[in-house]
Amino acid sequence: MNMKLITSFDEYQKQYEFSVDNPETFWADVAENFQWRKKWSRVLEWDFHKPEVHWFIGGKLNITENCLDRHLPARANQTAIIWEPNNPADASQHITYQQLFNHVCRVANMLKAQGIKKGDRVCIYMPMIPEVAYAMLACARIGAVHSVVFAGFSAGSLIDRINDAGCKLVLTTDGAYRGDKIIDLKSIIDEALEKCPTVERVLVAKRTHSKVKMKPGRDLWWEEEIRNVSDVCVAEEMDAEDLLFILYTSGSTGKPKGMVHTCGGYMVYTSYTFKTAFQYQDGQVYWCTADVGWITGHSYIVYGPLSAGAITLMFEGVPSWPDMGRFWHVAEKHRVNIFYTAPTAIRSLEKAPLSFVRQYDLHSIKVLGTVGEPINEEAWHWYHDNIGRGECPVVDTWWQTETGGFMISPIAHVTKLKPAHASFPLPGVQPAIMDENGNELLANGVEGRLAIRFPWPAMARTIYGDHQRFKDTYFSTFPGKYFTGDGCKRDEEGFYRITGRVDDIIIVSGHNMGTAEIESAIDEHSAVCESAVVAYPHDIKGQGVYAYVICYDKPHEEEKLRKEIRELVAKIIGPIAKPDKIQFVSGLPKTRSGKIMRRILRKVAEGDTSNLGDVTTLLDPAVVDEIKSGAL
Ligand code: WT7
Repeated sequence: MNMKLITSFDEYQKQYEFSVDNPETFWADVAENFQWRKKWSRVLEWDFHKPEVHWFIGGKLNITENCLDRHLPARANQTAIIWEPNNPADASQHITYQQLFNHVCRVANMLKAQGIKKGDRVCIYMPMIPEVAYAMLACARIGAVHSVVFAGFSAGSLIDRINDAGCKLVLTTDGAYRGDKIIDLKSIIDEALEKCPTVERVLVAKRTHSKVKMKPGRDLWWEEEIRNVSDVCVAEEMDAEDLLFILYTSGSTGKPKGMVHTCGGYMVYTSYTFKTAFQYQDGQVYWCTADVGWITGHSYIVYGPLSAGAITLMFEGVPSWPDMGRFWHVAEKHRVNIFYTAPTAIRSLEKAPLSFVRQYDLHSIKVLGTVGEPINEEAWHWYHDNIGRGECPVVDTWWQTETGGFMISPIAHVTKLKPAHASFPLPGVQPAIMDENGNELLANGVEGRLAIRFPWPAMARTIYGDHQRFKDTYFSTFPGKYFTGDGCKRDEEGFYRITGRVDDIIIVSGHNMGTAEIESAIDEHSAVCESAVVAYPHDIKGQGVYAYVICYDKPHEEEKLRKEIRELVAKIIGPIAKPDKIQFVSGLPKTRSGKIMRRILRKVAEGDTSNLGDVTTLLDPAVVDEIKSGAL
């Protein structure tokens, strides 16, 4: 691809200005670098009040032709995916673009043979094995809409997601390896599907060779079904605005939001931002440690890198097994050039002895990246100094499931680095910092809430089945602008720094969760009457989950009940949502209108009880003293 790389800060500024003054020309120029079946007739139509956004109107394409077919003449035998298994004693795989093409076509034909057509929704619940990438691309090839559910989610979370999307088919495995553990994915699917009437078929790939139950008439083995299909599959012609996938993210209310991403804009944007922010050069080995269950995996393990013809590494394992040196072992083994991970991983690896880093040669690494939550300065320096030898830029990418791709980020080797700052908006991105009254703060040296003024090609188009909620959540706070839910500072030099969520979303180990979702899981316990969840600062996870719980009767065995509540939350949502601290209380600080004053709960959870602010509007100010004295 001959997308123009930005090589100096001056050029960045010029391109940035151009992209703001002429957004349509700017994005049309980028889009020219892709293979379209039919060119668009108009670049953009939008109205943030409705809200409605269309990019590359009338354009026809298939994203997999851009990720696969297009590369075959020049790089059929170049590696597309390097796969590193959970167990370092097992062999890794190098999958070339030609092989990837054939695998994807076969899975696509297997799906077709099960009656899956354009527009059907397919749930993918799989570990980080090459088949998960084949599955996503196979859906895209035939125009089916994938909904990947992170394999760490439990049956309850699966039920919500499968039913909301009305999935017809599920792709899964017999089990998943996670360090020294085996997770029974298939039995979690079995439990979920009892409550998912739309699912007709389950295709099960073998990974752990665990004993699983196969339901006759519903479940089929992937290996058997794929045996007799062709390895060529003509791609379905998709409109630029046809659905590519749905991906669920947590909301302020309990119900997850199915963010809808479409084919054309998403492809153009993820490819462009991947190449630009990381300054990816042909032949480099790129490794993003995320899971494909999150947007990072969608955009920057699968679609962005593959559409750019890159070599993308997929890792099945965890950073801590067999020991805390695993990441660095993998980086040395595959001579990784660009390494992209989350602050929570950096903080946990930082706690391990440096010998785990020093025993590996990490000189191949040229660029480092981080994503998922604000990175603290200490972690930033540790990463920069010990992994990046004090030389590699740290690309701190701020973005969201909703944005589809990077929004505010340094450009490697171009942007001056400022620790813990996402720095500047990428070309085409127009941020606005808003004050409490909804006025835009135009100067530098300001702090407020972050909004985006103008559409970008990869933005989510709606919430699946609930456009009103899309409007209410993102376009009502600041009419005419997209509201991110994040707080933000812009310093005197114009560097942006994301300060964290300003709504009821918390980010635990880089995973986005709604406090309401955790509360309703806790409330399922028969002893629990009501609960309130807030975040508190946590050394490694960034934020920990602090739950205040009211029981019908004062609990006799608090520890036992805590354990039960934790297990219940793990069962309903997934282990990532387990409360770290549970404080039993007899009441919650509520206003006269019945609203919980979370500000107070947050302060207590943070261990700062000196100044709780105004508590006079509380219905019963006495509960505050009780909460303070019982703080954990
Ligand atoms: C929220 C979005 C984007 C992929 C992973 C998370 C926080 C993300 C950064 C960063 C500070 C960040 C924000 C955002 N966030 N990246 N570099 N610096 N905060 O996607 O689950 O949709 O979460 O993650 O709060 O709103 P997500």
